[in-house]
Amino acid sequence: MTEQWEKLDSNHQPWEGEVVSEELATVPILLTRIDGQLKAYHDCCAHNGVRVSTGHVEGTIITCPAHKWQYDLRSGEGVNPKKMRLRSLPLMTRDGEIYIDIGSVIATKVTL
Ligand code: FES
Repeated sequence: MTEQWEKLDSNHQPWEGEVVSEELATVPILLTRIDGQLKAYHDCCAHNGVRVSTGHVEGTIITCPAHKWQYDLRSGEGVNPKKMRLRSLPLMTRDGEIYIDIGSVIATKVTL
């Protein structure tokens, strides 16, 4: 699988428990921070592609605004339904900057 690392704007990082939306090379990204750890997901509901980041957050569970599918922001795993999940995106820090690998999204051409 092809990697494509994109630098994250340091001004767009979420506070603990917050969800923010970002776009890197036309790929919508959902960012959150849980237990001090930054997490990145493709901001695309597994049901019908709606930006999950526009949904409601309660604890670590985010609910898609369209049809109420729910995901656990700690892992991206589906809560309801359990079989679906958000696509987790790898993160790395280099020279004090954070990079996100969006290659898996680009490879599947799912860029909403
Ligand atoms: S698009 Fe998210 S639940 Fe339908």
